[in-house]
Amino acid sequence: MEFPLAYQDVSGKFQISQKLYGREKEIEALLMAFERVGGGNLHSHQNYSQFKTEMMLITGYSGIGKSALVQEIYKPITQQRGYFISGKFEQFQRNIPYSAVVRAFQSLVRQLLIENETQLFQWREKLLAALGYNGQIIIDVIPEVELIVGPQPPVQQLGPTESQNRFNLVFQNFIHVFCQQSHPLVIFLDDLQWSDSATLKLIELMMTDTHMQYLFLIGAYRDNEVSSIHPLIITLNMLKEQGVVISQITLSPLNFEQISQLLADTLHKDIVKLKPLAELVRHKTEGNPFFVNEFLKTLHQENLLNFNSQEGGWQWDVSQIEKISITDNVVDLMISKLKSLPETAQQVLRLAACIGNSFDLVTLSIINKKSSAETCRELLPATQKGLILPTSELKTLGSEVVGFHSLIFNHKFLHDRVQQAAYALIDDNQKKIIHLEIGRILLSSVFAEERTEKIFNFIVHLNQGWNLIKTKKEKLELAQLNLEAGQKAKDATAYASAKEYLTIGKNSLPINFWEENYDLAFALHKELAEVEYLNGNFEKSEELIELTLNRTKSVVEKAELYKILIVQYATGGRYEDAMKVGTKCLAMLGIELPSDYQTVIEEEIAEAKKNLGDRKIASLIDLPKMKVPEKVAALKILNSVDSTAYLLDMGLFALVAAKRVNLCLKYGNLPESAKVYADYGIIMSSILEDYTSAHDFGLLAMKLSDKFNNQAQKCKVSLIFGYWLNSWVNPIKDNDEIYLEGYKAGVNSGELLYAGYNLVYILLNKFSQGVSLEKILEEVTHFLLFSHNTKNQLCIELILGFHLNIFNLSGKTKEKLDFRNDQISETQYLNSGESQLSSASLCYYHIFKSQVLYLYGESGLALDCALKGQKLLASIRGQYLISEHNFYFSLILAALYPLASQA
Ligand SMILES: Nc1ncnc2c1ncn2[C@@H]1O[C@H](COP(=O)(O)OP(=O)(O)OP(=O)(O)O)[C@@H](O)[C@H]1O
Ligand SMILES: [Mg+2]
Repeated sequence: MEFPLAYQDVSGKFQISQKLYGREKEIEALLMAFERVGGGNLHSHQNYSQFKTEMMLITGYSGIGKSALVQEIYKPITQQRGYFISGKFEQFQRNIPYSAVVRAFQSLVRQLLIENETQLFQWREKLLAALGYNGQIIIDVIPEVELIVGPQPPVQQLGPTESQNRFNLVFQNFIHVFCQQSHPLVIFLDDLQWSDSATLKLIELMMTDTHMQYLFLIGAYRDNEVSSIHPLIITLNMLKEQGVVISQITLSPLNFEQISQLLADTLHKDIVKLKPLAELVRHKTEGNPFFVNEFLKTLHQENLLNFNSQEGGWQWDVSQIEKISITDNVVDLMISKLKSLPETAQQVLRLAACIGNSFDLVTLSIINKKSSAETCRELLPATQKGLILPTSELKTLGSEVVGFHSLIFNHKFLHDRVQQAAYALIDDNQKKIIHLEIGRILLSSVFAEERTEKIFNFIVHLNQGWNLIKTKKEKLELAQLNLEAGQKAKDATAYASAKEYLTIGKNSLPINFWEENYDLAFALHKELAEVEYLNGNFEKSEELIELTLNRTKSVVEKAELYKILIVQYATGGRYEDAMKVGTKCLAMLGIELPSDYQTVIEEEIAEAKKNLGDRKIASLIDLPKMKVPEKVAALKILNSVDSTAYLLDMGLFALVAAKRVNLCLKYGNLPESAKVYADYGIIMSSILEDYTSAHDFGLLAMKLSDKFNNQAQKCKVSLIFGYWLNSWVNPIKDNDEIYLEGYKAGVNSGELLYAGYNLVYILLNKFSQGVSLEKILEEVTHFLLFSHNTKNQLCIELILGFHLNIFNLSGKTKEKLDFRNDQISETQYLNSGESQLSSASLCYYHIFKSQVLYLYGESGLALDCALKGQKLLASIRGQYLISEHNFYFSLILAALYPLASQA
């Protein structure tokens, strides 16, 4: 007789089928999306190459099977050479910046570390090339990266906006390394309903990055737990508006057939016989798979599902099952399950729920105030009921063990719902006490040198119980820790979290802190003022600065506060206010900026000449380092108003430049002196018309930025040196290289504003040299993209205006005299939306247009344009373009001369 082996082997062990039912279409959709971003074979990739990155959202009720669904595609994706990484957010730890992202990349690093030497070396090289000087920025967020790239140099200090740009760019470059055609990257972020706002910004950054390719981002969230004003929904809507490819899978409950199949596979029965039971299960659970699982387990535990070996299988009585009152709500079901455990087990689960979604026995035993063995024993009923799952192997313990020879050290809750249920069983006051204790234990278990690295792990707990802390010593320690956490979050551009930490830090300062703990109090207030500003709360920030100024005694510290205010005003376009604050602060530091500054400019320049004496300009590179704190502070304040002064008035700019040069000549150099000398060069050329000295100051600036190896300064001075100073004494061709180096230095250091300006002048320089228009047009597209990505408004305006002219000149418009490109017309450009075009952009536009019109022989129209440009020349003083304008203006006038009337 023939029969398949094990045909009638039915196990008496109750084991619910682990298969996924009814998700074939969804898995298919996920894999198709992966193919589209380049994960399939080469052939299909070509078909879909229009999508380089995609986002897929999986939504549905808790327990509907979102996490389980995405886990299913792990295998097929890694088999098709993709990297699949994932991380989940935790409900009770929402203040940790990027937690799920960090976890995902930690696992990626671990995957790379086990690759062979050659491959690891290649990763190291690729990462170092992508991160440049800024590897430490990534290491601060994902410490494991250091294991691949080795220790990295500290990064250069930048202003808040520049640091934010730098962080974004470095993170983008970091991710690019892993998203390659040879190995696309799939990132799965689970439980997005609990994500922090920094992560949402990062998602936006990844999905709108035009250089990003081969990235598939999957996000899962409980859609019924987020309202339309939840930050996640706002971000997703914004992304959709920007044209990001986002698809959505909403998971539906299991239907009757799927439940029947699950029962058939679990109970090894024929589907027909299962009909009444399947109907009952569906009715009770509404097809929610988590609930189905829990419901079946309950039936088994309550002996309503029995194994009868004689009858050959599982047996049940539908009418009996119908009778028992089983709640039809999952959370209540979980709570009732927890409540059926012995009190000791319930208590230890409550403690565990406070630690987190997963927890370790050591910490749990300490807060449980019992030995590990004892605690493990108390957990046992919960483990047996499957409410918690072991995540590590059994480990043999030494002498501590009583009765237990081996213990399991790491556990996790079966599901967030179970943790939630256990957490709900603790009253609020008790929660604070437990969290505080967990925080203290975790803090005492980290080494001093890894305290900053691991700070978020324990501070989230300490902060929940911060107002229970009584001793002055511990309050001070907490304030200090929150300062560190706040700074760390700020550096990672997680401004909302930073604000929470700094606020708690400030509030936990003991009484009389201004008198007794001045330094810490000052640091907390200053950081908080800056972070309030970064969160867009300008008034709050000003209030804090005001308050702190009243408490601050040293002028140097006052200057630090004023500087925050100046940056705020200048960034917000409040130039007069920025100047007013700057002037006030400078007066305090002994530097006068009189309102009728015209009268003192000459004096100040004469003073500079005197201070220089008969020293050569080039010799200033050897000046000692500026040390006097008040002078350093003064130079920094003057630096913070220099571009504001340039925008307000050239005379004021000249005065600020001369004041700064005098400070350097008298007290020595700082890295920032590079731009000081470059700016002074502008004065030398545009006011004094001493082009040789101007050039020498520029050269000094370039060398000084190299001497201090300060890339941000190098980026800024390259631009000034090239366009304002070098153009007057050397062939403009030489500037190509200078701008390019300046651009690179800017990208390296995060000085993206000036990096963009360097790009603009690369274009203009080519145009002036007569490079083919086709070549220039190609570059325009790339440069415009960079300007958009870095949100550089002035750059966008300048390049766009330039593009309209070049596009027309190369004959690409239908009508000869129509100035437009594929996207916008001249009218749209000139009236562009919310922000008015800057005078400089307008001036450039008219100057270029007059050239084009002149070349067409339209001298009359060209004259109109040239005159419009002429009116705005003050906005581009000292720039090389003025000479080109004069040249064409003269040609236009000469062309019109024969037509001029006698009068
Ligand atoms: N299609 C399915 N067929 C059978 N069982 C499933 C299915 N989907 C999920 N399950 C089971 O249900 C349980 C709950 O699913 P899962 O954890 O994926 O839910 P979730 O939607 O991620 O919930 P939450 O929003 O709470 O995270 C899983 O442990 C899995 O065993
Ligand atoms: Mg889930």
